[in-house]
Amino acid sequence: MNHIEEIRLRINIEDLVGGHVQLKKAGRNLRGLCPFHGEKTASFMVSPEKGIAYCFGCHQGGDIFKFTQLIENVSFNEAIKILAERANVPLPKQIPKEFNKRLKSIEINQHTVKFYEEQLEKYPKHRDYFLDRGLTAETIKKFQLGYAPDSFDQLKNHLLKEGFESKDLIDSSVVNQRSIADKNTYDRFRNRLMFPIFDHQSNPVGLSGRIIGEGEPKYLNSPENPAYNKSLILYGLNWAKNSIKKEDMAIFVEGYMDVIATHQAGTENVVATCGTAVTPQQLKLISRFTKKIAFAFDEDSAGLEATFRAIELAQLADLNISIIQIPDGKDPDDCVQNNPENWKNAIKNPVTVMDFYFTYAFSHHDPSTMEGKKKVLDFILPLIKLYKTDMERSEYLNQLAVKLKTDVRYLWNDLKKVSTKKPSYAKTQEPPKEKPQERRFTREEYLLGFIGSYPNMAREVVENLIDNIPVNPNTERFYNTLKKVYTLESSGGIADFLEQLSEEDQGKWQIYTLLIEETYPEFPESSAESEIRKLIKEINRKNIFNVQKDIELKIRGSEDAEEKKLLLNRYNELLKLTAKI
Ligand code: UTP
Ligand code: MN
Repeated sequence: MNHIEEIRLRINIEDLVGGHVQLKKAGRNLRGLCPFHGEKTASFMVSPEKGIAYCFGCHQGGDIFKFTQLIENVSFNEAIKILAERANVPLPKQIPKEFNKRLKSIEINQHTVKFYEEQLEKYPKHRDYFLDRGLTAETIKKFQLGYAPDSFDQLKNHLLKEGFESKDLIDSSVVNQRSIADKNTYDRFRNRLMFPIFDHQSNPVGLSGRIIGEGEPKYLNSPENPAYNKSLILYGLNWAKNSIKKEDMAIFVEGYMDVIATHQAGTENVVATCGTAVTPQQLKLISRFTKKIAFAFDEDSAGLEATFRAIELAQLADLNISIIQIPDGKDPDDCVQNNPENWKNAIKNPVTVMDFYFTYAFSHHDPSTMEGKKKVLDFILPLIKLYKTDMERSEYLNQLAVKLKTDVRYLWNDLKKVSTKKPSYAKTQEPPKEKPQERRFTREEYLLGFIGSYPNMAREVVENLIDNIPVNPNTERFYNTLKKVYTLESSGGIADFLEQLSEEDQGKWQIYTLLIEETYPEFPESSAESEIRKLIKEINRKNIFNVQKDIELKIRGSEDAEEKKLLLNRYNELLKLTAKI
């Protein structure tokens, strides 16, 4: 038996998690407060049957290995070592398969980064983009910026020629598979300016590609791969870590360009979260280098939201926090390009969290009206109440009394009535601007969960999902495999399917199944069937709609009458198809 399986047999997920979280029985599963984010209602589920623990609030978790990785903030290999010791399983000398996959991913990303760098050299006009944004040749080289050519196969062909295997290219997420039925692959990044993403040991683990001009998405990011765990990576940390130690301070910004521009301007203790909200694991990682962090997020509503959430997490992690306010509501990159001195002044004078809250409250509400005063109180009092000593509370209440022109005794009274539960910023601000939500379950994932819970339905799903249109790239592999298994004459059913999944995908599969168990407890089979049919219909509709949009664009862009006719035919076929479903 493989030593990983042996460890899995000897360690129960409920015992392992039970050492960190108080668990209560909830049907066939167990439930507790999530150890990865602060919460008051239990959304952390443990399934002894499936051997997994997963939080439906923050979407973190997995099997005993993944749980150990997250809770101890260690790599997969380190997690194996920790658990092997606990289970008393001797480890073989050879390197585990997952480790190889990680190395392979890094190697492929390395070659990809180099390829895109070479392409940038070939296209002076794209190189000029970076120069026009104020970057020096030296900076372009240091951050290994590149250009992904406008082609579906240049990178793929290059990497195949270098001897990499097609399946490894898919695993490392530099190419995509076309659709369920069509196994052809194509380059993920096309005609984009490329920012490689490194882990803190300078291994390239993924990439982000900026669109040229306007369009969506502005930045296209690699999905997670065996080397890239998004909640664990901080962009720029490999270049920033020495400076962070030296300055005993880490500055968090939002964007790739913010990191690059500020580093170039001489502030090298700057890192960014790669398009996601700050995670507890990122804070744990940074706390190995410093306990002092400052947030310099945009002052638009999404940036404010990010700041509020980051403060909450950082307070939980016992980090010393301050806020950097950038003049004129710009992002750090704009500020540096405008005048580096403004940036340097801003970081010299960070404000305390309370100052930041005060500024926010008094700039969003009018303290000259009773209405406005009440809104200020609604916002600030719960935050003041979070402080444990009367000394701190009194300090802030006095400030508040002066600003609201009232007697501090009334404020003490009001403070008594406040519950600490929820700061009211959530209600007062405008809806945050759309950023890619990377961790919400998709319809495709729900459908997979249903198949896991009701395997009899698998065949129907396979037969009714429309082929030769793309499905969601994150779940494509599952549907490909399902199709493969269920179109065989002598299909062994779901067991065959599971056998063909990679270990990582098997883990995901179980999370999807648990998702359905938790979302639809005690769901009768007949309701499940109609829910499954509904999902199939919605997925088909959405996919066809996307293809139609694509064709519309092509028709508009095409000057060739023959090509136009072909596109129009295809478009009409799709219309008919939509009418049928
Ligand atoms: P912004 O939209 O603020 O862009 O996104 P930016 O960093 O100022 O980019 P430039 O200056 O126009 O080039 C902030 C960060 O959010 C992530 C990226 O990490 C980006 O740097 N993001 C944004 C995405 O991951 N995807 C997107 O589509 C947009
Ligand atoms: Mn910007």
